Amino acid sequence: MTERTFTPALGRFAPTRFYDPVIALTRERLWRGLLAMHVAPRPDDVIVDVGCGTGSSALLLHRIEPRARIVGVDPDPDVLAMARRKADAVGGTPEWRVGMGDALPEVLGADGSASAVVSSLVLHQCPVAMKRAILASMFTVLRPGGRLAIADFGLQRTRLMRLAFRAVQLADGKQDTQPNADGILPSLMSEAGFRDVREAEVVSTIGGSVSIYVARRD
Ligand SMILES: C[S@@+](CC[C@H](N)C(=O)[O-])C[C@H]1O[C@@H](n2cnc3c(N)ncnc32)[C@H](O)[C@@H]1O
Repeated sequence: MTERTFTPALGRFAPTRFYDPVIALTRERLWRGLLAMHVAPRPDDVIVDVGCGTGSSALLLHRIEPRARIVGVDPDPDVLAMARRKADAVGGTPEWRVGMGDALPEVLGADGSASAVVSSLVLHQCPVAMKRAILASMFTVLRPGGRLAIADFGLQRTRLMRLAFRAVQLADGKQDTQPNADGILPSLMSEAGFRDVREAEVVSTIGGSVSIYVARRD
């Protein structure tokens, strides 16, 4: 499935240039740091960041292990321009590619196999069929033994978190976001073929709880 439409970084109402300051309000340093901890980048890694947006996760992984090759993929050229500017400002060298998350083999081309795939705050914005297609595409580009780490709004366990998540649902639409809030991601990851799927962390934020899901490819 490759459909060319996608929800932009801040959803339907707010311009992308406000993305970084808004996301900073979501205890971003905590959940992004936990995501990076679970990826644990190594010098010989090839790490693909799917729906990399303004490049914050890719740049953090680069900062932790500058010898790893980091490739950020996003369908939105405007958000990638912001990622490039941020990378230039700190002397970071991730590669940035325009592309949809369900077309990773084509986007990465001949050299396209990864030792790790990461993604943050992307799947909640996608229709269920696209969530499935992106996970299948991640599985395809991962080498055997490769690891997957996803940070996203997951199962919203408490009334407070379900209430907080309504702000995200207002921006991104209920249809795509509700399956995440109902806890669909681990089963979709298993269906895509991943092993040892688990919710490793849950971080409460003002926009609902962000879960870190990890898995690997056999
Ligand atoms: C909420 S932003 C998250 C950006 C970044 N990953 C982060 O953690 O800050 C979601 C990003 O996913 C991208 N996106 C939306 N649909 C996508 C798809 N089908 N495949 C890949 N990226 C997608 C958007 O362009 C946007 O940059």
